[in-house]
This record gives sequence, structure tokens and C-alpha cells, in this order.
Amino acid sequence: MTRTQAALYSDLDLDLSWSEQDLPERERTKHVHRLHPYLGKFIPQLVDVLLARHFRPGQHVLDPFAGSGTTLVQALESGLDATGVDIASFNCLLMGVKTREYNLFVLEQELRSAHAAVHGSQPAASRPNAYVRRWFAPAAARELLAFRALLEQYEHADVLRVVLARAARSARRTTHFDLDFPREPQIDPYWCYKHKRTCTPVETASQFLRRYTLDTLERVKSFARMRARGRTANVIHGDARDETYGGRFDGVLTSPPYPGLIDYHEQHSYAYELLGLDDRRERELGAAAGGTSRGAIDAYCEGVASVLANAAASLRRRAPVLIVVNDRRDLYPEILARAGLRLDDRLRRHVNRRTGRRAGEFFEDVLVARVP
Ligand SMILES: C[S@@+](CC[C@H](N)C(=O)[O-])C[C@H]1O[C@@H](n2cnc3c(N)ncnc32)[C@H](O)[C@@H]1O
Repeated sequence: MTRTQAALYSDLDLDLSWSEQDLPERERTKHVHRLHPYLGKFIPQLVDVLLARHFRPGQHVLDPFAGSGTTLVQALESGLDATGVDIASFNCLLMGVKTREYNLFVLEQELRSAHAAVHGSQPAASRPNAYVRRWFAPAAARELLAFRALLEQYEHADVLRVVLARAARSARRTTHFDLDFPREPQIDPYWCYKHKRTCTPVETASQFLRRYTLDTLERVKSFARMRARGRTANVIHGDARDETYGGRFDGVLTSPPYPGLIDYHEQHSYAYELLGLDDRRERELGAAAGGTSRGAIDAYCEGVASVLANAAASLRRRAPVLIVVNDRRDLYPEILARAGLRLDDRLRRHVNRRTGRRAGEFFEDVLVARVP
């Protein structure tokens, strides 16, 4: 039987559901949340509500699937310490850049100097590898490699690495409507579904390097005004199944990957190529490339249960474990049982995604579990 709209909506936790009008994109991507695109993150406002409901300022929250660092950033805004783990090194780079405390004077000097060094006609700094030759027009490749050659001289090289990755993403030879997982480079003009006209793939990267250098500076400065004093975030690059945590946490807030949906390494492949980052995709749980066979789902359940059990071992008794997931296969009751956690509540929220190829609406759950 189909449920009526009214019945469906009566289950919703309205404090966790926002319309586009309540929460426009600029709020969802405020300050450092927009330092670099990341497919599959949750929104900062959801984190705020859950932290306010289940944690007190001064406490320490753990996110074992920390991704782009939304939990960490909002924890710092809400007066909590935070630890985030992720298996993907680009995500750890991004989290570190978002959450580090900077000497803003030095940061501004460095970013302005890097900005001034970007030129449209760069000589070749190094020979592009096969990936760079395939995915970037010759001028864009020269500009990106020249920017990369500058990085080491700066104290805040990591910030510039994120700028380089973001510019590379925008400068790839792709269509405007397939920026997330382009399969083949787009060399010729094409009919653009997004802009409803013929568009041409980009030829240069300098405009992005300049724009994102200044945008990053403004965003880091704006977050510096928002974050609570004296609170810190700790970023761990590792497999959350077997990471040994040094301390005790007051709870977990996380959104695990879901089987067969997103490849978290692959979505930033240009960053791994340009920055020479450590690729540990074989340890990534639920990767789309692993498929959704029975075996893949079993391995996923076992993996997520190990991550949660490992986290629970560093929590005090009755600590909250909040898991945001769209569990359409109903895997989580068993995952929680295997992890030794007790499910106390299941809140439902409405998700409204307005843009991009993955636009549409769906429902998502917040599982409120506890260490017994
Ligand atoms: C749904 S995303 C988290 C997004 C995050 N809530 C945010 O707002 O950015 C899941 C993350 O789990 C990470 N991951 C997958 N397997 C992992 C493992 N074995 N250990 C730690 N992290 C893992 C992925 O790299 C991905 O970044």
C-alpha cells in the first residue's frame, strides 16, 4: 500500500529537515565547507542540531568516517574538540586545511604571493605525466604544474595544495554536467544539458588558480572568526577498523559510506595524480567499484561493524553513537548488533537536493545508538 504524503511526513523530524528556502546553498556551503567539492557530505546544520542535542561544549566527538570534515568543522564552531579518521588521504589533507589554526597574517601574505605568481603563459615546470596529458589542455597543464612547482617554498603549502586540486578539478577536459565522475575527456564543443547551449571544454587553469586562492583565503578567515577558542581537531589518516585511539571520546557522529554508491578515492583522482598522494582505495569500505553482490554487502557490513566496535571501545558507557545513513537495504540493525551497540531511536529526515545530476529528494535516517 502506498503511504499518503501526510503519513510519510508525520514520521519526519522537522528540526532535521530543511527546505531550499530555509537553508539556501550559501548557508550549506558556508566558510570552509566550500574549500573543495566533495560528493557525499552531510550538511553543517544537521551536525549542529545533533551536537546540540547529544553533546556539551568542551566534550570530544569522534567521526571515524570523517570525509571532508563537516563534523570536525562544526564541532569547532560549537565549542567541542573533534577527531576524524579517513582512509582517503585527500580527504585528510582537506580536513587538516579546514580545521588548522593559522597565523592569518602569514597565511594572507603567502596566498597573495602565490596569487601574484600565477600567469597565463607559463613555461613548462616539469613533463606532464600520462594522466595530465589526457585530462588537461596543454596550457592548463603548464599552469597547474607551474603552480605545483611553487608549493614547497610556502609554510602553508597544504592550503595551496587544496587550491591546486580545486583548480585542476575545474580545468579538466569535462562537460559541465559530469564533473563528479567523468569517464572520457571531452575535447570538442558539446551540447550542455546544464546550460542549454553549446559549451567548450576549458583550455586554461590560471583563472581558477587565481580565483580559488583568494576565495580560500576569505573562507579560512571567515571560519577563524566563527571557531571557538582553545578547541582543536585531530585528523588521522588510517583505516578506522584498526586505528588505535589514544584517548577517550564522549560520543560518535558519523555518516558511513554506503555500498555501491560513491568511490571516495576516485572522485578526487586528479588530486592523487597531481599531488602524488598515498592511494589506499583497496581499504575503502563500500566503494562503488566493489559492486553490490552478496559478498560485497557482507564485507561492507563486517567492515562498518568493526569500525563502530573499534570506536565504541574508546567511548564511555552510554555515550551516543549517531549515524546518518540512507539504509534502504536495512543493513544497520544487524551492523549495530554486531558492533555491540544498542539502537535507541531512529529519526527520519527529508533531504532535498536541488542541483546536479544526482538531484532529487529522498529520506535519510539518523540512528541514535549507545554503548550499553
Ligand atoms: C559518507 S563519507 C563521509 C562524509 C562526511 N560526513 C562529510 O560530511 O564530509 C564516508 C567516508 O568514509 C571513508 N572511508 C571508507 N572506508 C574507510 C575506512 N576503512 N576507514 C576510514 N574511513 C573510511 C571514505 O573515504 C569517505 O570519505
